[in-house]
Amino acid sequence: MENTKPYPDAGNGTLLRGHMPEMQRDTYNFYLRRHTELGDSLRFRAFPGINFYSFASAEAVHQILIKNRVKYSRGARWSRIVSYIGGNGIVTSTGDTWRNQRQTVTPYFQPAHVDQYIDLVVRNTREVADRWAAMGAGAEINISKEMMLLGLVNVSDILLNYDIRPQANRFSEAMMDGFQYINRFIQNPLTPPRFLPLAANRDFNRNKAAADTVVRDIIAAVRDDQEECMINALIRAGNTNQQLHDEIVTLLMAGHDTLSTALAWAWRLLAAHPDVLSKVRAELDVELGSAPLKAEFLEKLVYTRMVFKETLRLYPSAWAIHRFAEEPDVVNGYAIRKGSSVVLPVYVTHRLPKYWRHPDSFYPEHFSKSESETRPRFAYYPFGAGEHVCVGGHLATIEGIAILATLLQRFTPVVTDSAPVAPLVNFTLKPARNIFAQAQAR
Ligand code: HEM
Repeated sequence: MENTKPYPDAGNGTLLRGHMPEMQRDTYNFYLRRHTELGDSLRFRAFPGINFYSFASAEAVHQILIKNRVKYSRGARWSRIVSYIGGNGIVTSTGDTWRNQRQTVTPYFQPAHVDQYIDLVVRNTREVADRWAAMGAGAEINISKEMMLLGLVNVSDILLNYDIRPQANRFSEAMMDGFQYINRFIQNPLTPPRFLPLAANRDFNRNKAAADTVVRDIIAAVRDDQEECMINALIRAGNTNQQLHDEIVTLLMAGHDTLSTALAWAWRLLAAHPDVLSKVRAELDVELGSAPLKAEFLEKLVYTRMVFKETLRLYPSAWAIHRFAEEPDVVNGYAIRKGSSVVLPVYVTHRLPKYWRHPDSFYPEHFSKSESETRPRFAYYPFGAGEHVCVGGHLATIEGIAILATLLQRFTPVVTDSAPVAPLVNFTLKPARNIFAQAQAR
C-alpha cells in the first residue's frame, strides 16, 4: 500500500467502547467538535480492535462517494436496521435489485416530469394556507406537524397518485416513532434485539402494522387506477406485491420527513431574520405578486432558492452518510482498513470555516453565484453524491421553493417560542422540539 499518514491522535475514549459513548451522547456535535479540534480526517475507536473513520473534506466526499465508490457499500448493518421500516426498498437494496429499481423510478424524478406537479404542490399548500387564515390572527400553529403532513400529502399525490389525507396523521406518526426506534439501533449496537418482548418492540410492531395497512390500501387503489404513475411502472417491471410494498414505504419514508423538517427550520430561520425575509418578499412581489407560482417562474426565484439551500446547509436532514469499506482505501493520504465503518458528517462539512464565510450564521448569500464559484463542488452535498445520490433531490428542491413562496406570499412567520432550538438526531436531523409559530396575514 502507498505511504500513508498517521491519523491525528483522537485519544482512545473509554476502555471497552472507545469513542462510542461520546458519539452517542453528542452525535453531530461530537463530529463537529472533533473535526474542529483535530482536522478533516479522523479515526475513532468503536470496540477494542475495531475502528471507524470520519472524513469532512470535500475531496474525501468525492473520493468515497464517486471516485472509489466500488470499494464501499452502504453496509449490511445500516441497511438491516433501515429495512425494519423500508424492507428491501431502494434505500436498502443492493446489486441488481437496487439497480433495476433505481432505473425504473428515475424517469419519474426527472425535472421534465416533476415540474408538471408544481400546480398541485401550490394547490395543496394553498389549502393549508386557507386553513391557517381561518384559524384567525394570533393562532399558534404547529409548523413541524403541518409541514410533515403537507410533505406526505404532496409526495403521495405526486408519486402514487393517491390521496393520503384521511390516513396522513396516523401514517406520519407511525413513521416518526419508527425513526426513533431505528435510530437507537443505528447509534447503539448494544440495543436489545427486536425479538424480545419489550415495550419498545411492541410499540414498533404496532406502528409498523398501522403503516402497512395504509400501504396495502395504496397498492389496492393504484392497481385499479389506469393513470400512468411510478407504481404502474414498478408493477410492469414485474415487482411482487412485497417488493411494491417496500418501495412505497421507502419512498414515503425518504420523501416526506426530510423535506418537511427543512421547511420547519426555514420558517423559524426566516422569523428570526427579518432582513432575509424582506428580501424573499421583495423577490416574490416582483416575480409573482399574488398570483400562484407556476413552473416557469421557478428559475426566477433565485433568492428563495438560496434561502432553501442555506437552510439545508445549516440543517442537512441527512446529517451524515454512512459507508462500509468492502476493500482497503487511502483517502487524503490516510489509510482505511477493509471492514470498517466510514462516516461522512455532512453537518460538519457544511460548517467548515474554510468553505463558508459565515459557517454558523443564516446567510443565503453563501449561494450567490460568486460565492458558489469559489467553493469545491462537494463542500455542499445535502442530497449526497454518486450512484446513490438522492433520487428526489430536484423534487424536494422545487417543492421546498413552491411551499415557501406560497406561504410567504400570504403570511409573515412569527415564532411564538423564541428559546433556542437545538437540532436533534432522530434518524434525520430535526428540531429538538416541534416548532410552533403564528402565521400573521400580510
Ligand atoms: C430535503 C429533502 C431531502 C434530503 C435532504 C435527502 C437526502 C438524501 C441523501 C443524502 C441521500 C443519499 C444517501 C446515501 O448516499 O446513502 C438520499 C437518497 C435517497 N433519497 Fe433523498 N432526500 C430528500 C428528499 C427526498 C425525496 C423527496 C425523495 C422521494 C420522494 C427521496 C428519495 C430518496 C431515495 C429513494 C434515496 C436512495 C437513492 C439510492 O440509493 O439510489 N429523497 N436522500
